[in-house]
Amino acid sequence: MDLWTLSDLCTPWCVHVVATLRIADRIAAGNEEIGQLAAAAGADRDSLHRVLRHLVSKGLFAEPAPGRFSLNETARGLLGETNLLGLDLDAFGGRMAYAWGTLLSAVRTGKPAYHEAFGRGFWEDLEAHPEIAAKFDALMGPGHGVPDWRVLVDPADWESVRTVVDVGGGTGALLAEILRARPAVRGTLVDLPGTVVRSGEVFQAAGVSDRVTTVAQSFFDPLPGGGDLYILKSVLFDWPDREATAILRRCAEAAYPSGRVVISGGAGPGEEADPELLMMVLVGGRGRSLDEFRKMAREAGLEVTATGRQASGRAIVECRPR
Ligand SMILES: C[S@@+](CC[C@H](N)C(=O)[O-])C[C@H]1O[C@@H](n2cnc3c(N)ncnc32)[C@H](O)[C@@H]1O
Repeated sequence: MDLWTLSDLCTPWCVHVVATLRIADRIAAGNEEIGQLAAAAGADRDSLHRVLRHLVSKGLFAEPAPGRFSLNETARGLLGETNLLGLDLDAFGGRMAYAWGTLLSAVRTGKPAYHEAFGRGFWEDLEAHPEIAAKFDALMGPGHGVPDWRVLVDPADWESVRTVVDVGGGTGALLAEILRARPAVRGTLVDLPGTVVRSGEVFQAAGVSDRVTTVAQSFFDPLPGGGDLYILKSVLFDWPDREATAILRRCAEAAYPSGRVVISGGAGPGEEADPELLMMVLVGGRGRSLDEFRKMAREAGLEVTATGRQASGRAIVECRPR
């Protein structure tokens, strides 16, 4: 691939713009002619036309007759609200898109510069904007599809699990799947207050509300104790080493003496750490190799006891309190 293709910002921005303007849904609703389409989207006809012609040249949308647009297979990926969660510039997609403008500062300083774009750090920004936070939660939940509930390396181990604590579990998508699959298990969801309040309908839809406890608290504070299994899915890479170790330490304390802690999403044996650049710009997080993780876990009072891979391809690491 040549340098100009690699450095093209035009196409990604055009995709975000048509996503924000719900162009695919408007075409699907019958607004195929550019004047109609622009009017329906509240956009300037000529400008939208130019954007769409560019995207057609890149393989997104088709223009079967001049000034008439239709969906092709790629454009159908823009249909529906769930598919737009990560692209909508007026919502959480805008947080991710504009945050990339802070990458240079992050690289120069080694610290996230999200506040340069949004005036506050990432988590504080979500707290200050509940409507954006709700879209973030939706992207983490429905936006990532149905999570794979099999987070134990040896499936036979589920027989001994009665209580699961999902730490930083978002609105409960994974916990709901676990409880649906394992009727004898009870679950506790731990996350920030604004997120936990959005979990009710997830558990209700899964028919598991009677086996769930929700705990609105920070995972930097002591966690509910006595669980058989503590899960951290897509949490540790949000944080620099010091904070990630502190979260693991809270899990180790709560799981002590006989529970276990499972980390889903990270590097498997022999793999390099993912660069996790989005985490770098949003939250100053990082990926870690298994060796780096092992060292961190020891500092937190945990020993890695098993590693494996879920059917979904995600690496899982099991730890026990030391
Ligand atoms: C990347 S999301 C992962 C959510 C979920 N585990 C998943 O895989 O979909 C990180 C989660 O950490 C939560 N979180 C961030 N800071 C937290 C804190 N201090 N205490 C508890 N949860 C926190 C966020 O609200 C969010 O739900």
